[in-house]
Amino acid sequence: MKQFTTIRETREYLAGKAEKGYSIGFVPTMGALHEGHISLVNRSKTENMLTVCSIFVNPTQFNNKEDLEKYPRTLARDAKLLRASGCDVLFAPTAAEMYPEGETEGIDLEFGLLDKVMEGKFRPGHFKGVATIVNKLFAVVNPTRAYFGKKDFQQLAIIRHMVNSLKLPVAIIACETVREPDGLAMSSRNMRLTIAERSQAPEIYQVLSKMKEKAGKMPVKALKEWAMKKIQETPDLRIEYLEIGDRETLVPLENWSHKERGMVFAAVFLGDVRLIDNIELFL
Ligand code: PAJ
Repeated sequence: MKQFTTIRETREYLAGKAEKGYSIGFVPTMGALHEGHISLVNRSKTENMLTVCSIFVNPTQFNNKEDLEKYPRTLARDAKLLRASGCDVLFAPTAAEMYPEGETEGIDLEFGLLDKVMEGKFRPGHFKGVATIVNKLFAVVNPTRAYFGKKDFQQLAIIRHMVNSLKLPVAIIACETVREPDGLAMSSRNMRLTIAERSQAPEIYQVLSKMKEKAGKMPVKALKEWAMKKIQETPDLRIEYLEIGDRETLVPLENWSHKERGMVFAAVFLGDVRLIDNIELFL
């Protein structure tokens, strides 16, 4: 596996491959890699001649300074995992490389509702930071296909929207959420949970799964209230939001008239660790 820290050497190497007709699959990450990330690498490997992974803890998408500082950084371990999974190139730049001196401005796209609800509402500026860095990374890597997890479903919608608006020549591939055996969605943040918090965390997915059984059989509002109550009964779980929304527009559902598009999205705190999850209610 090639490992680069500068834009110039990454670009040069990949441009050489592209000239030879290689298709390039790209998996952008913030590191602290787990099986969820590796599943994206594996998918890319099956569909492309070359797979590139980036590791960059992007400061502009953190609206909370403490969250940025506490974000796990495990580059040596990550590189080993990537090598073992057969990733071809790792791009792990410094902040100065991606945001040269004084640069604070990001890309200003109109996302409509997509960046105003849920994550957008509770993490102001987050998606602007995500769009800014992913656009920069695409400009460095020039991927044929880029792989994103449904775990961050709203992020996926933002990226698709950006690619459409800017007419970027990349195919966005959505990948299923990888879970622990007890159902907890894998996340780099899980390693920050205490033992007591970790034992309660699977309740999030359990409640979402029960909502799937009940969906359509009671009004949307009642189902939402049932789920919020259920989660709140677990001592260390604190809901930030729980929404039933349309999978295309993310607009909250009022009733079940377009139920096949219904998804539930939740953000839940355990101590100071914030976890998100979502599932499709009818698919
Ligand atoms: P990060 O949280 O490291 O996630 C990198 C990619 O892995 C994202 O596409 C995310 O959806 C996917 N992923 C995370 N957990 C997953 C799981 N359990 N199953 C499947 N896929 C999973 O998302 C980011 O980084 C950043 O916002 C980034 C896009 C890199 C921009 O900075």
